[in-house]
Amino acid sequence: MSPANRLSLIKHAVVVLSLLPAAELVLRWQMGRMGARPTTEALLWTGDWAVAFLLITLAITPARALFDWPPLVTLRRRLGLAAAGYALLHFGLYVFDQKWNLVVVALEIVKRFYLTIGFVAVLAFVALSITSTDGWQRRLRRNWKRLHYLVYPLAVLALIHFFLQSKANVSDAVMASGLFLWLMLWRALPRDIRSKPQTLAGLAVATPILTVVVEALWYWGAKGVPPMRIVEASLDPMLIPRPAHIVLVAGLGVVVVTLLWRLKPRKTVPS
Ligand code: HEM
Repeated sequence: MSPANRLSLIKHAVVVLSLLPAAELVLRWQMGRMGARPTTEALLWTGDWAVAFLLITLAITPARALFDWPPLVTLRRRLGLAAAGYALLHFGLYVFDQKWNLVVVALEIVKRFYLTIGFVAVLAFVALSITSTDGWQRRLRRNWKRLHYLVYPLAVLALIHFFLQSKANVSDAVMASGLFLWLMLWRALPRDIRSKPQTLAGLAVATPILTVVVEALWYWGAKGVPPMRIVEASLDPMLIPRPAHIVLVAGLGVVVVTLLWRLKPRKTVPS
């Protein structure tokens, strides 16, 4: 298969895969398998997938560098639009839950901090989606890149919303934050070292430690739990998998996959 055909196939696969969680939601709802509070269940589902697609979108830049495959970047727009789509569906479900009463929705957004930051994130998603086209990229020139740096504060807002929303168990929000930290730390490293296996191994070790710090700070600040309890829980083999373990496995996975990719024999162009 030619590289162009392979890329086109991957692009189509990404579109189909990004629609699967929505299709599963519709199917479960139709079959009455959404539990006692279907709208709440759908809210959680779409919120989780919005964050998941946001992280996958942010993973494209490192993946392009690690696998040395520039066309990968063409998938970023589709993945970003999938994240925005799930975030808008999530917001739509909230409005539906409030019986389409926009006054109540607006008052709630103003009154509750976690909804205020969620709404700001939704607005940022809309701005980024509208301007994601080639036309807008040409029109805005250098400002396009500046505007699209908004994705980082947007992700931070989405994660804070995730934490505030998670009530007693913040494990998923902690895990998402750990993965986000990996993606941000990789970007912060100098270009000439960030794709080296030893750097990736260092990141694989550093990010779970930071994940434990984030989790410990959260439980300490929000519930008064002594930080050492979270550290001990993360070191207890009986409690595997905790968020930091998943972040560690993801980081080590990046090291292994990158090494295997680089060992792959390359086709040489005949002279
Ligand atoms: C105005 C905008 C938003 C509103 C009104 C809103 C509303 C809500 C509500 C009511 C819940 C809790 C459901 C429950 O436990 O009963 C929730 C949870 C959540 N939201 Fe949002 N949200 C907004 C924006 C966002 C955005 C932009 C994202 C992500 C990009 C997001 C991600 C999440 C996640 C991950 C959860 C928790 C899911 C879980 O615990 O599994 N939300 N949101």
